[in-house]
Amino acid sequence: MVAAEFVWIAATDPRMAEVHALRHEVLFAPFGLPRDDDWDDEGADRRHLVALAGGRVVGYLNMIVEPAGSGHVRQVSVSGAFQGTGIGRALMLEAEAEATRIGLSLVWLNARVSAEGFYHRLGYRTTSAEPFPSGRTRVPHVRMERALLSDTPRKR
Ligand SMILES: CC(C)(COP(=O)(O)OP(=O)(O)OC[C@H]1O[C@@H](n2cnc3c(N)ncnc32)[C@H](O)[C@@H]1OP(=O)(O)O)[C@@H](O)C(=O)NCCC(=O)NCCS
Repeated sequence: MVAAEFVWIAATDPRMAEVHALRHEVLFAPFGLPRDDDWDDEGADRRHLVALAGGRVVGYLNMIVEPAGSGHVRQVSVSGAFQGTGIGRALMLEAEAEATRIGLSLVWLNARVSAEGFYHRLGYRTTSAEPFPSGRTRVPHVRMERALLSDTPRKR
């Protein structure tokens, strides 16, 4: 994997400006959507994980800690030049490690169908019957989850 570090940051951290740019560039600009940084990032239940390479934000996800004991992972995004280098996988593994540390038993997400294989490789199973359109992009998504206390196999 490319040299990178993975750091949980506060919603008020100045590096969130880079996060705003990254998630727009990776998740929304390809669909011609206008930039909108209003994501309600500051809730006490929201955690933000960045991948840093050379001090720059090259990957990101956030996780909402839910009262039911689950973690809802959102906005998984890796900068184009760094895609396919292991950053996305490492982000997901760190999200699961954090979820385990704080006592959650399940991680779930709504995955783009185009990324379903990425999460399958990490041991996630699809739990929605049919793909559904996401709120902003309208691209087809499926709900996926992985129980943390199980030994759902990963591909490697
Ligand atoms: C999808 C995404 C997060 C994956 O992160 P990444 O850093 O590119 O992926 P990694 O290099 O960690 O890949 C890990 C493994 O998953 C595979 N993989 C990566 N993207 C995949 C995809 N879209 N579909 C199927 N497999 C994929 C890789 O080939 C690799 O396989 P390996 O274990 O045999 O080496 C990233 O490519 C991305 O940001 N894509 C655009 C935005 C997006 O679709 N985000 C997900 C929203 S749900």
